[in-house]
Amino acid sequence: MITVIAGTNRNNSYTKAVADICCNYMNSQNIENQLLDLSTLPTNIFHGNIYWNTPKEFEPFQEKILNCDGILTVLPEYNGSFPGALKFFIDLLKFPESLHEKPSAFVGVAAGYFGALRAIEQLEMVFQYREAHIFGKRVMFPKVQDKMTEDKLNITDNKLKSKLEKMLIEFNHFSHYHKSLTN
Ligand SMILES: Cc1cc2nc3c(=O)[nH]c(=O)nc-3n(C[C@H](O)[C@H](O)[C@H](O)COP(=O)(O)O)c2cc1C
Repeated sequence: MITVIAGTNRNNSYTKAVADICCNYMNSQNIENQLLDLSTLPTNIFHGNIYWNTPKEFEPFQEKILNCDGILTVLPEYNGSFPGALKFFIDLLKFPESLHEKPSAFVGVAAGYFGALRAIEQLEMVFQYREAHIFGKRVMFPKVQDKMTEDKLNITDNKLKSKLEKMLIEFNHFSHYHKSLTN
């Protein structure tokens, strides 16, 4: 099972659109997957007494991280980094079991020319701190608005689309290889 995190809580984001495309492609390849959409996080988590004391509404989100064999995070670049909502989500996850030795891959989405490379590299540092197994290949969508159809349902850049699909297949193999080592 691959969990695909749509890594922003912004409504109607390109990040969510790319995350949906990843899930749809994996479905077409019979790769088990589930979406974890940060825009659907319960609003009662946003207060200061939440750490190590998450409400039951958070449990399905936590469960999608614990029960998967790999995490694919699709993330946008916000102010030269990844969204605060994504870091907050990670800070609420159980430690260390949530990310420890978890195969993890990243897809970057940005309006700018750098395709969220900075955001990916910063997020990889967090995952590395939590001893995740980082998958070496990343896919980036610079100027994302020029690479998708207006309804955000499809990628118009065929080279990028093939690169993403190849990465998804390889990441699934990587995740299952790690699973076979630990079982
Ligand atoms: C708070 C905020 C900060 C942003 N900062 C950057 C940035 O530093 N670099 C960039 O290329 N785009 C930046 N953007 C634009 C996003 O890359 C753009 O919205 C793109 O569609 C991906 O984000 P989305 O998934 O929210 O749609 C920012 C957007 C928001 C909402």
